[in-house]
Amino acid sequence: MPERTPYIAANWKMNKTVAEAAEFVDALLPRIAATQADVVICPSFLALHEVVERRRGTAVRVAAQNMHEDGTGAFTGEVSAPMLVELDVEAVVLGHSERRQLFGESDEALARKVPAALAADLEPILCVGESEAARDGGETEEVLERQLQADLATVESGDLARVVIAYEPIWAIGTGRTATPEQAQEACAFIRDVVRMRGAAADQMRILYGGSMKPANAAELLALPDVDGGLVGGASLDPEDFAAIVEAAG
Ligand code: PGA
Repeated sequence: MPERTPYIAANWKMNKTVAEAAEFVDALLPRIAATQADVVICPSFLALHEVVERRRGTAVRVAAQNMHEDGTGAFTGEVSAPMLVELDVEAVVLGHSERRQLFGESDEALARKVPAALAADLEPILCVGESEAARDGGETEEVLERQLQADLATVESGDLARVVIAYEPIWAIGTGRTATPEQAQEACAFIRDVVRMRGAAADQMRILYGGSMKPANAAELLALPDVDGGLVGGASLDPEDFAAIVEAAG
């Protein structure tokens, strides 16, 4: 099996002003200088430029938290892939459950956003995950498969391994309830199988776990065979906590 480089992403959501983002990056960089992991910071659109500039000369990469599928157009309030690329942003979170639930992000839009990101050379971090009701109803795999098939429908199989998938059970996000290692491993292995069935180099794809990952549980989750990293929300707001998670990844 190919070695997959661990991948740890800080999803700040709607937190941190430009000044706070700058302070965070300055505090984080010396703490993670020795890591072998891919480290990605996902600030608000407004702080992207500041984070890109502060991390120059380091291996830290920068991701937006969303983008529109078209390059330009009459879409008030939206931001496109070429705009992100111009800032030297390297990746983009797509389909986060907060966007799906609170802002009506649809699988149809995601089926256009993922290839648009790839075409612009932005690494998509596609989020999938089941609700508590779906898990309780035994429908976790059905939900994951439906999201993956729909959101990746138009991605060529040869490009699929360029997508990073984040498994984020909705009931674990921001709740302090983490998936058990068994649940996380089972879901991430299932995601890899679904992608493999699309003819992709699934063993090369990075699959992350997200949902109340913190320094106290990161090592156990990151040691799971099919969990290649984490998409970290709350615990990514503190440079010390986030650095501890990066350290747990190696
Ligand atoms: P959390 O968020 O770590 O605060 O649960 C994770 C996410 O939503 O990406």
